[in-house]
Amino acid sequence: MLNELLASRNLPPLKSRGEMLEILQREVYGFLPPKPDSVSFDVEKDTIRRFCAGKADCDRVTVKCSVAGGEFSFPILATIPNDRTKGKYPFFIHINFRPDNPDRYMPTEEIIDNGFALISLCYTDITSDDGDFTDGLAGVLFPGGKRPADGAGKIAMWAWAAMRALDYAETLGDILDLDRACVCGHSRLGKTALFTAAADQRFAFAYSNGSGCSGAAIQRGKSGETVADIVEHFPFWFCENYYKYAGNEDEMPFDQHYLPACIAPRRVFVGSASEDAWADPLSEFLSCVAASPAFEKGIVCPDRLPETDDKFPEGDIGWHIRPGMHYFSRLDWQRLIEFINLHK
Ligand code: GCU
Repeated sequence: MLNELLASRNLPPLKSRGEMLEILQREVYGFLPPKPDSVSFDVEKDTIRRFCAGKADCDRVTVKCSVAGGEFSFPILATIPNDRTKGKYPFFIHINFRPDNPDRYMPTEEIIDNGFALISLCYTDITSDDGDFTDGLAGVLFPGGKRPADGAGKIAMWAWAAMRALDYAETLGDILDLDRACVCGHSRLGKTALFTAAADQRFAFAYSNGSGCSGAAIQRGKSGETVADIVEHFPFWFCENYYKYAGNEDEMPFDQHYLPACIAPRRVFVGSASEDAWADPLSEFLSCVAASPAFEKGIVCPDRLPETDDKFPEGDIGWHIRPGMHYFSRLDWQRLIEFINLHK
């Protein structure tokens, strides 16, 4: 039944990772900003020791980059379990809405208690979430605020910053398990997390939560938010080439299943919420089914419509749907941790 449902969506076939990534950059997100010429890290002296009841340390780190002929710096927080007898820690790079630690979308102590380290960044420390292309990294990349039709949109800039957070993690290779890095985020930052891992093969895992339109969800036949809606309200998340697909999804030489497919052969877990009609859980799920052939082990699920509270973590691409609203909740984190632990 799922095959028939998918056939009715008329998706373009999968291509090679290189081709899909090129199309997604040119037509949707804009090309990633260039790799920095140099990156260095200032670890602040007032690091919080004995964080989370003494189980972790939290360092505030300034990431300093020379990029595109300019200089750009931003803060990240590295919260790392301090028990050095437990081996190397798998870790999350969480692109968050706020700099708070913990935060309502980030139950830090629970993450630490599960044996993970956590590097978090606040997206507006990179560039503003609006049409101002003179702000932060955008101003360095596009002096005068002018960008080409395939120039990086804000999502691509936030993704670039998550890659720099991974550059920092690489300096901690004796503490962090660099083969088990997971980039994650919610909603617009779930779109960002998928794009980050699609473009940067150092990430072994990606998790998007409620990423919906222009994230995990396929656009053809999608309910809730459409390309026309998103480019009307948030054109700056994308490159200008994307705007022509407003009301014109059938003309797209791609669909959003290309995004998780670019993460293969690594692993991706997609989270939906039952009341998140704007994101459209069914189209997020079908996207995972459509991307499955790109993976060694595609999604493992029954051949029926999904039901609330389904979770399908066994494949290299997995999906779950939590009851409730659009939110990055504790249950989402628990299922994400379960997914990563399953794929050792
Ligand atoms: C809006 C937008 C979504 C986005 C969400 C968010 O609802 O339409 O595409 O995911 O904001 O980031 O919270």
